[in-house]
Amino acid sequence: MSDDSADLMGLCKRRGFIYPAFEIYGGVAGMFDYGPLGCILKNNIVEAWRHIYKGREGFIEIDSETVNPKDVFKASGHIDNFADLITYCTECQAPFRADHLVKGFVDNPDILTPKQLEEEFEKHDIRCLECGGKLGPVDEFNLMFKTHIGPGSARVGYMRPETAQGIFVNYPNLYRYNRERLPLGVIQTGRSYRNEIAPRQGMIRMREFNQMEVELFVDPDDKDWARFPEIENESLDLIPNTTLKLTTMTVKEAVEKGVIANRVLAYFVYTTKQLLTMLGIDPKRLRFREHEKDEMAHYAADCWEAEVLLSYGWTEIVGIADRGCWDLSRHSQFSGQDLTHFKKFDEPKEVEMDKVKAKNKALGPRFKAKAKDVAAAIEACKPEDVKDGKLSVTVDGETYDLDGECFEVVHVKEKISGERVIPHVIEPSHGLDRIFYSILEHAYDHDEKEDYTVLHLRPIVAPIKVGVFPLMEKDGLDKVAKDIYDAIHRSGAEAYYDGSGTIGKRYARMDEIGTPWCITVDYETIEDGANKGTVTIRDRDSKDQKRIKVEDAKAIIDSLLAGKDFKDL
Ligand code: ATP
Ligand code: GLY
Repeated sequence: MSDDSADLMGLCKRRGFIYPAFEIYGGVAGMFDYGPLGCILKNNIVEAWRHIYKGREGFIEIDSETVNPKDVFKASGHIDNFADLITYCTECQAPFRADHLVKGFVDNPDILTPKQLEEEFEKHDIRCLECGGKLGPVDEFNLMFKTHIGPGSARVGYMRPETAQGIFVNYPNLYRYNRERLPLGVIQTGRSYRNEIAPRQGMIRMREFNQMEVELFVDPDDKDWARFPEIENESLDLIPNTTLKLTTMTVKEAVEKGVIANRVLAYFVYTTKQLLTMLGIDPKRLRFREHEKDEMAHYAADCWEAEVLLSYGWTEIVGIADRGCWDLSRHSQFSGQDLTHFKKFDEPKEVEMDKVKAKNKALGPRFKAKAKDVAAAIEACKPEDVKDGKLSVTVDGETYDLDGECFEVVHVKEKISGERVIPHVIEPSHGLDRIFYSILEHAYDHDEKEDYTVLHLRPIVAPIKVGVFPLMEKDGLDKVAKDIYDAIHRSGAEAYYDGSGTIGKRYARMDEIGTPWCITVDYETIEDGANKGTVTIRDRDSKDQKRIKVEDAKAIIDSLLAGKDFKDL
């Protein structure tokens, strides 16, 4: 952890943003609890994300289970593919993520095989970070936490490593809810779990963390977005995997030059920039890097990650992936359910095709009351289901092996009104904790000489919007201050009443937690004179102060929160 990061984490603990979890028992690496201020800041980030995806885009939100049966992750590919590369020290047995040990020696450690990593250890004499011992062989380590559902060990379950699967397995319900139309946008926020090998980077690598995920189901042949023209001239800093060089261009250029594969992916890359900068990420310390081909997750056809510059170096905080039809195809294959979209043609089309047809005359005498159901089961089959002239169908749990007496494959001409397609998924996946930490690092401003800290948090995320102080807690100043506090706090904007210590100390306490404005009730408020009935309002960043009327205090805070400039008060 760098000095800046250690100072910031110290502030976070002291002021109630973040606590190391289970501290009284010595703590557990990669686990943190959100304190009172952290909780508000985290919720503010979630609300801003909802505002864009539910409010502006009209997507729907769900909340699914965090423990899932094994079948889900067998289908999703996580059981077979969701692993990091591990090595243990041959002397003290300390575990390490093998790719992290070669950072600084190779450009992109994520794409190296176990053997290549072992060669890098040899070449650069990379040794155990704890005791200097020799490192052992590099192996795969699955990151999912395993558990059991119900007593005994019969039903294996896993803690979800991403919230996304809860949306994919609910596709039939959500598709129906959306009245069988695409695009279908679904969002979900909640906990995800990864048994990270060696979490040494604070909130960047947690074992239990929060995601805000968006799964957008689109027609595979129509990767466009109606609102694209609104943002097409905005600029993006991109590192494509074809050149690995930073290049700045408009969203429109990125699509026209083939840098970003399609308009819908490009739209959501830009939406990610909008969200992050609105939350207070410094645009100069934000870029989008396309994953290299060998770096892509098992489900991704393409992926752009939003990287921010932190004291840890450039760090991924959001991944915007084109997951293609991977998830729905796999869940359909493993569950046997139909996870398609019926795409209606503009005009019905006449097509020629082979079909399996039931021979009803033969079925009647043989299957009697069940003949109709058997006929329906036959006609639901495809010609390729016929094996060696035989067809197997199941009706009411009973399987029948049928020969050519009962069915035939016929060539027909038919008018069809549409076709079934498996939707593709575009996924902006936000790491909430990483965004939270990045906002704090970009807002952190410590003046060494004065030993004074200001968090320049944007009002939209600041946990406390306004501090309200009586100069002295007497002579009725406290009553006026409490009334102002009540009016603001009850309306839903977090306010903080503080009556103790010098005014300078009270401002300093608010600056340190990023409170944008402070209101002070002084003797001029209550004494006869030009300023009677007024209070001061102070701006955190400029330190400017103005006098406003007591009765206007709440409305003024509302207008500042709505975006009014302090200078214009
Ligand atoms: P990394 O390569 O840094 O491990 P990742 O590529 O595994 O990240 P994704 O699988 O794309 O990350 O997860 C989506 C988002 O979830 C990431 O952009 C990140 O913000 C967040 N995330 C992933 N793993 C963690 C973790 N261990 N702790 C905190 N946030 C995480
Ligand atoms: N849903 C993307 C990820 O967590 O990997």
